Parts: sequence; C-alpha cells; structure tokens
Amino acid sequence: MTLRLGVNIDHVATIRNARGGLLPDPVRAAKLAIAAGCDGITAHLREDRRHIRDDDIARLKAEIDKPLNFEMAATDEMVAIALKTRPHACCIVPEKRSERTTEGGLDAAGQQAALKPVIHALKHAGIRVSLFIAAQKPQIEAAAALGADVIEIHTGAWCDALAEGQVALAETEWQAIRAGAALADGLGLEVHAGHGLDYASAEEIAELPQIVELNIGHFLIGEAVFEGLSETVKFMRAAMDRGRKRVG
Ligand code: PXP
Repeated sequence: MTLRLGVNIDHVATIRNARGGLLPDPVRAAKLAIAAGCDGITAHLREDRRHIRDDDIARLKAEIDKPLNFEMAATDEMVAIALKTRPHACCIVPEKRSERTTEGGLDAAGQQAALKPVIHALKHAGIRVSLFIAAQKPQIEAAAALGADVIEIHTGAWCDALAEGQVALAETEWQAIRAGAALADGLGLEVHAGHGLDYASAEEIAELPQIVELNIGHFLIGEAVFEGLSETVKFMRAAMDRGRKRVG
C-alpha cells in the first residue's frame, strides 16, 4: 500500500519566467526530484503560459523516466496538446485567468456535457484521466458517471484552515476528505489528493488508506530554497511514509 509522491514543478518555471531566459530549468528540477525518490512529475500548462510552457511539456515527456501527470483545462487547445504529448495521465482542472492558483475544484457535476467528450478523447488515446474536484458526493458521483479513472481531491480548503488555526473548519474539511476518499474508492475510482500540502498535512493525509498519490508543488519548491530540492523531496517522502505506517 505505497503512497506515491508526484512533484509539481510549475514554480521552478515561475522563477525562470520572472527573468525570462532558460534558468532555472524545470526539467532539471524534475530529474532531480526523481533521483531523490519521487514517483512522478506534475506540470500544469495554463492557458496564459504563466509558468510551464509548451516546450517544457514536450521536454518533460521526452526526458523523464517516471510518469508525467499533465494538468490541463478542458479546452480544445489543451486536448490537442495532450493527444500530441501522450502523457501518462491528464488531470483536468478548472482555470480562471485571474486566480493565483487553482482555487477550487472542477464542477464535474455541473459540466458533465462539456467534460464528456474531453474525457472520451483522452481515454481513447490511452491516457488516464483524473478530475481535480472537491470531496463532495455529487462531484465524486459525477466523476464516476463520466468514466474518469481517478479523482484528485482538492485539499486546499483543509490546508488553509490548518494554516490559519481554524480548528473546527479544518476538522469539517478533514471529515469531508475522509468520507470522499472512501466514497470514491467504493465507486472504483483511484484516489489522489493535492493542493497546499506541507510535511505535516502530507503525513496526516497519508493515514487515509484509499489515497494512493499526493501531488505537491508550492511547498516543496519553496522549501528547496533553504534545504535543496533533493533533501526536501526526501523529507516529504519520509513524512508520507510515517503517516502511511499508521494505517490500519
Ligand atoms: N494538484 C493539482 C491538480 C493542482 O492544480 C496543484 C496546483 O497547481 C497541485 C496539485 C499542487 O498544489 P501545491 O502547489 O499547492 O502543492
């Protein structure tokens, strides 16, 4: 019952783009994270290309030897890029230009008609499809009805509540994540989680046995400034392993 760690390298590209040019190289970061023990790489090609760019995706696919999880909005442009790139998996996320990061989950329940052809096209090409959704029953049931392979539970609200010391809200969010993970697993969906996770929250969520993958970016890249990326990935792996040992 291992718990996979996917490292999101978007914010290496954010730093690169702050100056233009080629450095720091997100593909180098991906290779370093893999050498340090992560199980896959996640990258989000946004419509505005504010961090990851098209050639980063092409290079990641060509140069890394672990699964690439391509985060994308459900648009024709992104579907075409996914079909050309053929990543291991696509995680469909909602996207608004004005947001700083992916602020809420995808409305899978409300957008079934629009999502259906996207999911079909990706699956038809042999790409695993994940939907980034809140841990809410209607969203999880819609993901299953749409034929998604995976859901990634949006942990942002839980992590924010923890960081702000909002104990009651954090507990409510935690119970929703627990129940959502169990429901999704019961419906035959593979369960991932991510957004806002740090060492402590990753260790805690590792205790939920249905969750098989965590995707973590901002905290890891930030910590890497102080500890180095290899050490940070190793510390994260150790935190997740400690949490997972407490299962059962
Ligand atoms: N998973 C998904 C689907 C995301 O959109 C993001 C943020 O881009 C993450 C995980 C990683 O979140 P964070 O950078 O807060 O760790």
